[in-house]
Amino acid sequence: MRQYLIAGNWKMNTDPVEAAELAAEIAALLSARPPDDNVSVALCPPFTSLVSAGAKLKESKALLGAQNCHHEAAGAFTGEIAAPMLAALGCTYVILGHSERRRYCGESDSDIRQKIAAAMAAGLTPIYCVGETLEERQAEQTLTVIERQLRRGLDSIALPDASRLVVAYEPVWAIGSGLAASAEQAQEVHAFIRAELGAMYGEKSESILLLYGGSMKASNAPALLAKPDVNGGLIGGASLDANTFVAIAQACGS
Ligand code: 13P
Repeated sequence: MRQYLIAGNWKMNTDPVEAAELAAEIAALLSARPPDDNVSVALCPPFTSLVSAGAKLKESKALLGAQNCHHEAAGAFTGEIAAPMLAALGCTYVILGHSERRRYCGESDSDIRQKIAAAMAAGLTPIYCVGETLEERQAEQTLTVIERQLRRGLDSIALPDASRLVVAYEPVWAIGSGLAASAEQAQEVHAFIRAELGAMYGEKSESILLLYGGSMKASNAPALLAKPDVNGGLIGGASLDANTFVAIAQACGS
């Protein structure tokens, strides 16, 4: 049976009280109208809201994820958060390489590679984000950019099994723009990512979950999720509304 993951990236939204309310609302909807068993759900609040949101997910199907981590496990890195700290809080996932961090924090593919290694060493599953800018798409560089991000970001990263890595295709031009990639555009890139992962990891890569992210909402989710290599979504704005987010989870396999 096809597996799906619907993950909410709350970005820099929700204080601890708001996060607890939103997580509780999502948990209640998931228990009232559970998505199919083959659909996993994750919420990725800001660091400061992980504890309060996580407390509301204890009895729920939803798992907890963070939005970044440092590449060292501990040390003199003022203001940073290490992967083992996130694991100790009950995180399953950590989003790494998001385009907002590449752009605003100057993270390079090799910085991200170190973070992926640290996350895996701590037992977390990285959700590794890749995606091209509008200029790169217009210059027909999309697949070249994705290939570079995959090859560099995953260079020398061992994969014990497919469940230990998630890749999210997030075209930068689709994030927060209201203009999602078409299902065909997403499928083309996802098939390419699948082939690249196959070249890197062989057969076990076939079940790595590939998420689409960028203006995904309840209205466009069914078409995107129907594509063979789209195994879920990384949802930004629409994940801040409990009903919309759960509706997207329910669109998997429909
Ligand atoms: P939006 O869903 O708000 O476009 O954001 C997507 C995203 O960046 C998820 O990581």
